[in-house]
Amino acid sequence: MEVLLHLLVAQVILLALASSFVSCYDPSPLQDFCVAANNNTNGVFVNGKFCKDPKLVTANDFFTFGLKIPGNTSNRLGSMTTTIGIPGLNTLGVTIARIDFSPGGQVPPHIHPRATEILLVLEGRLLVGFVSSNIYNNTLFSKILNPGDVFLFPVGLIQFHVNVGKTNAVAIAAAGSQNPGLITIGDAIFRSNPFMDPMILAKACAFWT
Ligand SMILES: *[C@@H]1O[C@H](CO)[C@@H](O)[C@H](O)[C@H]1NC(C)=O
Ligand SMILES: *[C@@H]1O[C@H](CO)[C@@H](O)[C@H](O)[C@H]1NC(C)=O
Ligand SMILES: *[C@@H]1O[C@H](CO)[C@@H](O)[C@H](O)[C@H]1NC(C)=O
Repeated sequence: MEVLLHLLVAQVILLALASSFVSCYDPSPLQDFCVAANNNTNGVFVNGKFCKDPKLVTANDFFTFGLKIPGNTSNRLGSMTTTIGIPGLNTLGVTIARIDFSPGGQVPPHIHPRATEILLVLEGRLLVGFVSSNIYNNTLFSKILNPGDVFLFPVGLIQFHVNVGKTNAVAIAAAGSQNPGLITIGDAIFRSNPFMDPMILAKACAFWT
């Protein structure tokens, strides 16, 4: 009897752990679509979100022309990421963005904590890369991309994109989450609010001798 009870407790703990792991990812939808609605006079609630009445959904809810509009790269980084909100994306676990670069422009080292990213170069020449985690020796995986080339950035790893060509560059980035999240490493470390004690940063490299 006691053994059975222990087994049951172990099972419950295992289930609890397993389910908290699963909920780290976008859930699979329980319906064909759940087009985001800002008008809540005529719709349905799905998983706590307000969605457009499926009978009123049209092709335009799954469409955007926004990706052909260049972003303004007149800023310190020389790049602009334009994320396009398509109402129909809601609950489907993907996002798409256009990234414009002026010559020398870059998207500095950053992390998307919730999504793997896939990047397609349309114009120009980009140096891209990501760094593996400590257990894989912080190895830099890097490549120069030309139009038509694609590179993958695994979820949660530090990645960057730099325009190393003489012309503007354009890329399309898609990510496997409705909300990939963004941590820009330099800002998070050196411009936290409030600032981290410099004594902490001075010892930040555990293995630097
Ligand atoms: C909201 O939905 C109702 C019912 O479909 C419609 O009559 C109304 O025009 C909508 N309002 C807006 C702002 O879209
Ligand atoms: C781009 O941004 C800069 C700086 O904010 C601004 O001065 C300029 O007018 C913008 N250009 C366009 C085409 O919007
Ligand atoms: C990481 O470095 C260690 C020690 O040099 C080595 O044994 C291991 O194979 C390396 N692992 C990878 C994934 O490079």
